[in-house]
Amino acid sequence: MSTIQGKVIAITGASSGIGEATASFLAEKGARLVLGARRGDRLSTVVDGITAKGGTATGVVVDVTRREDLRRLTDTAIERYGRLDVLVSNAGTMAVSPFDELRQDDWDSMVSTHITGLLNGIGAALPVFRRQGSGHFVNVSSTAAYVVKSPQAVYAATKAAVNVISEGLRQESGPDLSVTVISPGFTHTEGVGKGATPEVSAALTQMRDEIAMPPSAIASAIGYAIEQPAGVDVNEIVVRPTAQA
Ligand SMILES: NC(=O)c1ccc[n+]([C@@H]2O[C@H](COP(=O)([O-])OP(=O)(O)OC[C@H]3O[C@@H](n4cnc5c(N)ncnc54)[C@H](OP(=O)(O)O)[C@@H]3O)[C@@H](O)[C@H]2O)c1
Repeated sequence: MSTIQGKVIAITGASSGIGEATASFLAEKGARLVLGARRGDRLSTVVDGITAKGGTATGVVVDVTRREDLRRLTDTAIERYGRLDVLVSNAGTMAVSPFDELRQDDWDSMVSTHITGLLNGIGAALPVFRRQGSGHFVNVSSTAAYVVKSPQAVYAATKAAVNVISEGLRQESGPDLSVTVISPGFTHTEGVGKGATPEVSAALTQMRDEIAMPPSAIASAIGYAIEQPAGVDVNEIVVRPTAQA
């Protein structure tokens, strides 16, 4: 039996893409899930799909940029299932554009979703993990954190920040907690090109359709990190499609 069986796992950005695929994967392994995102209708569809197959999941409408929403997510895990074993911070936006477009709202949105959102998750889950004497942060970054490709600088910077925050958190976590960074390459999700400038969006979606891997590839990497025995921390997994340069 997988060690994922019975674990209480909260996932942000679970209404589509990698978060949705991870929820399905972990539900099949017997995890009890608390799923967060802003689109309540999409979240309900994911929760209903899991419960229809005999899995256990609850949806909570959250905006990760709001501190109190992350608190509500972790509170729901404790109220429903009595504990929280893993927080997967996956919510993200890839609204990339050239600097000259001055899409400053999109810059702000990437900063607040990836950096403030991650910190809000840490702020909500860390006290719970400390009380329990166990817990696992799984933070979804990107290969963009390592290779900056124009016009993705702001996105890449926020994902580099995810790596830096995760490494600092890991060093301070001590022997009882785990911290994992998952860095996906091109993954076939609706988020690729969404909110980007039209030319950039067209180029990204074309590349996605040519080379991207399915989100299940990232879901199983997250599952691998979660199913390690106590005392073993998978610090980072980078997963790219073979065709990605
Ligand atoms: N696809 C790729 O090629 C790729 C590569 C590397 C890294 N990633 C990363 O993987 C993660 C998931 O992306 P994806 O590819 O699966 O795209 P996606 O299908 O668009 O998923 C993004 C998820 O984040 C949620 N979200 C966005 N902003 C949010 C907010 N403020 N509060 C709560 N939830 C929010 C969205 O739900 P709502 O809109 O319902 O809130 C959605 O569920 C992101 O962090 C992304 O940067 C993706």
